[in-house]
Amino acid sequence: MKKYLVIGNPIEHSLSPILHSYWIKKNNLNAIYDKKKMESEDLENFISKIKKKEIDGANVTVPFKKEVIPYLDELTLEARNTQSVNTIYLDKDKIVGHNTDIRGFEMAIQDVNYDPKQKKVFIIGAGGVVPSIVYALYKMEVSKIYICNRTKKKAQDLKNLFQGLTVLDWGELPDFDMIINATSVGLNNSESINLDFSKINAGKFFYDVIYNPNETNFLKTGKQLGNKIENGKKMFIYQASESFKVWHGIKPEINIEIDNLLSQ
Ligand code: ATR
Repeated sequence: MKKYLVIGNPIEHSLSPILHSYWIKKNNLNAIYDKKKMESEDLENFISKIKKKEIDGANVTVPFKKEVIPYLDELTLEARNTQSVNTIYLDKDKIVGHNTDIRGFEMAIQDVNYDPKQKKVFIIGAGGVVPSIVYALYKMEVSKIYICNRTKKKAQDLKNLFQGLTVLDWGELPDFDMIINATSVGLNNSESINLDFSKINAGKFFYDVIYNPNETNFLKTGKQLGNKIENGKKMFIYQASESFKVWHGIKPEINIEIDNLLSQ
């Protein structure tokens, strides 16, 4: 039986096992997909298990997407350009780090028929998923990306990878077409980002990486102000489907059942 895992810290709330297990069953594969909480010092040993074929592949989530890189043999172009790995697989005897968050975001945006080309985008947050979002946005030919983060240094560090970014102070609101919440604020229903959106006009696109709850306060505000909104559920599903393709060579079906599974 093939064995797959998602690793991270925290990991209890990850829905990856539910999604991958659903597709494994649907495709009659002899495999299991589990989750495992890790500490930094466990990473090397964990990766060596993939090398020894005790584990067949892994997803990597916060806070290890960059930290796993030194233990891998190769990076795909996407992983190299973002210094972010969310999918690990063995190719012959080499452990490869890949990034499917990029395609996940891109497909999610295409799915809602939004064309970011020549649009100005404002990203709030500078955590693990942000390099992938920035990379995808440049690929989709946005005209400008502004970014702010509570800890400004982390946003500034992203300029090492993406020189074109404009880093703003927390509290500054630029003129934008699309705004993305990439912080973890909103995971609890009671939380709101302490930025003043009240002067934002309608006709913009509010995107939240969070999908549980379905509608964060950030998206509620966007909606009230007359904007298009979308949560991160599709991005999550598409990044998973791209990982599934890499490991099993099968494009898994995305259907309403999955929506229900993830809403439980
Ligand atoms: P990591 O930072 O380990 O990659 P993440 O969940 O990917 O974890 O990122 C969390 C993001 O949410 C960060 O941008 C974080 O800002 P800091 O870099 O200043 O920590 C942001 N964040 C978390 N709590 C926040 C809050 N109360 N207000 C504003 N931003 C917050």
